[in-house]
Amino acid sequence: MHPIIEAIEERRTVNLFDPTRGLSDESINELVRLATKAPSSFNLQNWRFIAVRTPEAKARLRTIGWDQPKITDAAVTFVVVGKPADHELVADRLRPAVDAGIMPAAVAAAWEGGAKALYFEQPQRQRDEAVRSATFGASTLMFAAHAMGLASGPMSGFDVEAVAEEFELAADEFPVMLLAVGFAAPDNWRQKPRRELSQVLRLV
Ligand SMILES: Cc1cc2nc3c(=O)[nH]c(=O)nc-3n(C[C@H](O)[C@H](O)[C@H](O)COP(=O)(O)O)c2cc1C
Repeated sequence: MHPIIEAIEERRTVNLFDPTRGLSDESINELVRLATKAPSSFNLQNWRFIAVRTPEAKARLRTIGWDQPKITDAAVTFVVVGKPADHELVADRLRPAVDAGIMPAAVAAAWEGGAKALYFEQPQRQRDEAVRSATFGASTLMFAAHAMGLASGPMSGFDVEAVAEEFELAADEFPVMLLAVGFAAPDNWRQKPRRELSQVLRLV
């Protein structure tokens, strides 16, 4: 089986982590480096990852994360941060692709126009886009962790305003999700069965 298919088949959401095993900052760097390979709209990369990995910081996060034990038991719990899509950043974010000869400058300029048409004075779209892109980032991080022999658990059970304040997010940033990553303890559940394909797929 192809290793990516194998990872999709095998990955599970882990609830119980081994609290005695941490991760080096080098491993955390590598996880986030791989996460940033995820696609984002106009390559805006409008995400940030706060790696909460000291016992003190994890305890602070747990109190505003529904007291979920995995926040402190996992080696690291990431706050995946989204930033509303801003068309004014498109030129900067595309420049490296133009400089590398991947993308013609005229196409980059056209993308700037497209982003303005989509996002200018459209706060709901800007925010939706931040959630979409940050979720791809988190998902890529999840599979990078799996490939490195680590387990993960995404969470939306937390106080959005409290996390933003406690971890000093900028005024326009917001936490999209928490993602616990570490070593699985024994007795976690296997991946749960999914709904029938016929219930979720419509061929047109
Ligand atoms: C966006 C999102 C938010 C979630 N929030 C929580 C959470 O706050 N606490 C928790 O224990 N599990 C949370 N989960 C985990 C889900 O319950 C889990 O992924 C689902 O049951 C499927 O599990 P499986 O992938 O192991 O089959 C969340 C999952 C997602 C995708």
